[in-house]
Amino acid sequence: MADTHEVQFSRGLEGVIAAETKIGFVDGVEGRLVYRGFDIGTLVEQSNFEEVSYLLLYGNLPNKKQYSDYVSKLKRYQVLQKDELDLITKIAHEAHPMSALRTVVSYIGAKDSRTVEPDSEVQEELGVEIIAKIPTIVSAINRAHEGEKPLGPDNDLSYSSNFFYGSLGRKPSTIEAKMLDAALILHADHGMNASTFSGMLTISTLSDMYSTITAAIATLKGPLHGGANERALALIQKVGTPDNAEKVIGGMIERKEKIMGFGHRVYKVYDPRARILKQFAEQVTKAHGKENLFAAANKIEEVMISKLGSKGIFPNVDFYSGLMYYSIGFNPEIFTPIFAVSRASGWVARSLEYVRDNRLFRPKALYIGEKGPRKYVPINERD
Ligand code: SDX
Repeated sequence: MADTHEVQFSRGLEGVIAAETKIGFVDGVEGRLVYRGFDIGTLVEQSNFEEVSYLLLYGNLPNKKQYSDYVSKLKRYQVLQKDELDLITKIAHEAHPMSALRTVVSYIGAKDSRTVEPDSEVQEELGVEIIAKIPTIVSAINRAHEGEKPLGPDNDLSYSSNFFYGSLGRKPSTIEAKMLDAALILHADHGMNASTFSGMLTISTLSDMYSTITAAIATLKGPLHGGANERALALIQKVGTPDNAEKVIGGMIERKEKIMGFGHRVYKVYDPRARILKQFAEQVTKAHGKENLFAAANKIEEVMISKLGSKGIFPNVDFYSGLMYYSIGFNPEIFTPIFAVSRASGWVARSLEYVRDNRLFRPKALYIGEKGPRKYVPINERD
């Protein structure tokens, strides 16, 4: 007798609505992304990452006092302790930056006695602390990965510019600061993507925010999710010039290989974030003498859309983001951690929203094995 609540089986929960939310809306048909009712294009043009982080968590853009209090809190919490910096120095040289990030966030949580309190106000405070610390952790990992000592944070810089300074050892130009801040806005939230779902599932057991974000980071690392940006750049570099695109991409499609930075479970049209990032990539590659890479990327896009556009396969957020970060000077291994710096706000906001009207996630599996009961055969009598 089927359980009365049973719904039809869907691999990967494709098409299944698992929660209600007021935080963000991904319109896969019209190619729109909305945070709390604001189009991302409006936020990129007129807001900044601190405002957007506040908007995702609290539902409205902050007034002057709320903004000042939130920014002060982020600056207060962004500083790392000596033992945390020592751990980064110890592991960052060997470990992939995403593994290092996952480890350091987990370590900081392991020391915090507040992680045993399921109260959502306590977990909200922990969430804001994590939002504040992640850029400092990632920039310290980036520098340790390259054998450099951590830098900053510099309290005179914005959230994104501090991350730029801490990672690259120099302050950003105006356009570089704008691009990185915009990229953080664009990556901040995106519906029930795998890493957000992973975090929500974790907190639905009334686990703590550090465990929630550790789970989300671990999930984002995968090449089908956050890890695609690093591989998309490698593909663009491999193609190198527009003339090679048809041959390289055509061959990959024939071999049924997935082209990194294309396709999406929800967008069956051009990812609106990719449109904005493409403009930045064109600007910054030109400014840094890498026009050839942009031309190659643009041709890859043309070839992909001509061959797979009819299947709803278009550039996603990961196709141009890596090219932009690389042209600014970021090491490709740090691209996915940059994604985590931004998405931490979405992870915290969605986890808090869910746990405040909680229902433990516990889907079912369709059993297709032998129903039995099978007869037990002692090992000596088995073939
Ligand atoms: C992110 O969920 C989110 O919102 C994620 C994200 C966020 O902000 O959190 O937007 C960030 O993860 C973006 C996606 C980054 N990943 C990649 O770029 C990796 C490459 N993309 C694919 O792996 C794929 O497009 C997915 C995983 C992103 C989505 O794929 P689906 O919905 O699971 O679709 P599928 O794998 O079932 O493919 C359907 C068809 C298949 O062809 P057929 O077997 O039907 O002939 O489309 C083909 C696939 O082969 N296809 C691709 C392709 N993506 C799908 N073919 C070539 N290259 C691709 N990239």
